[in-house]
Amino acid sequence: MADVKKIAVIAGDGIGPEVVAEAQKVIAKTEEVFGYRFEFEYGLFGGIAIDQRGTPLPEDTLAMCKNADAVLLGAVGGPQWDNNPKELRPETGLLGIRKALGLFSNIRPAVVFDCLKDASTLKPEVLEGTDLIVVRELTGGIYFGEKLRREGPNGQEAVDTCVYSVMEVERIARQAFEIARTRRKKLASVDKANVLETSRLWRETVIRVAEDYPDVELEHVLVDNCAMQLLRRPSSFDVIVTENMFGDILSDEAAMLTGSIGMLSSASLGEGSYGLYEPVHGSAPDIAGQGIANPVATILSVALMYRLTFGYHDAADAIELAVKEVLDAGHRTKDIAVDKNKSIGTEAMGDLIVAAIRKLQGN
Ligand code: IPM
Ligand code: MG
Repeated sequence: MADVKKIAVIAGDGIGPEVVAEAQKVIAKTEEVFGYRFEFEYGLFGGIAIDQRGTPLPEDTLAMCKNADAVLLGAVGGPQWDNNPKELRPETGLLGIRKALGLFSNIRPAVVFDCLKDASTLKPEVLEGTDLIVVRELTGGIYFGEKLRREGPNGQEAVDTCVYSVMEVERIARQAFEIARTRRKKLASVDKANVLETSRLWRETVIRVAEDYPDVELEHVLVDNCAMQLLRRPSSFDVIVTENMFGDILSDEAAMLTGSIGMLSSASLGEGSYGLYEPVHGSAPDIAGQGIANPVATILSVALMYRLTFGYHDAADAIELAVKEVLDAGHRTKDIAVDKNKSIGTEAMGDLIVAAIRKLQGN
């Protein structure tokens, strides 16, 4: 019998609890079909933790995450916390948990599902074959540099500092090269080396790391140009590696290529197999509690967790195929439905995917 793996579950705010509940049904089904065993622990995080505990990232939640093999996160945030001071904002909890768990690498695949090609705002022929991964540096750069307010010669000023060390660039570059190696062996390193010193260090370092990966084709793309090329020739990208803020922006852009942010999963990783898995979409407070959210991104995040943390490739394949079959059969939640009157709810989508999970030939 497989050993019991511990998953820390943070449902979070808005639609978080609804989509996480469906992901847990999927996990339960894979336990039944594949004999894997999981134990769940639950913690408060984000807005709900601010309300109930006075902080977005309570100590016991962090301890629970550290003690688990992987973390499954729903979504955090909502308008009721938007005007809070910085230390009482859900986003602060998110940045804090990434840093505290050493999750320096954020992996965001953007895959165009064939049957959803029409959901994108781009022409289907431009999207044809798009299958890329944004590897975003997650614990450095301007997000984490020194910030201050001060009086300057023209009144109040604000400063955000962007710092990168060679070590930080090197480890994310290595991870991106390793991922590229398992795919089409193409890496685009995105920077602003024509202007920023951190980007020049980034580029020098990536070039040095590339010596260890002669089999991977490396191109350097300036971030503004990359934003344009993503719309012009998305299918030519394989793996994109970039710093924290550029990755934040480009991963949203890449997500929209697929036309369906409700479909995209993500992983945040450190050095080992430990990871935090969450849908790319947010807490969608406007539709929370209505039972209409799309659970697919969270369910696909479970597949990523199985692959990257546990090495349970058979179950990951089964989940991904189940999702594909359900979509191919025409089932749609509202966000991806062409005919909004024919859409199904969160639970119905979860149930259909659960029912489609089975052992595949050859696994
Ligand atoms: C993301 C989000 C966060 C980020 C926010 C909510 C702090 O946009 O995960 O991409 O900027 O990293
Ligand atoms: Mg973002």
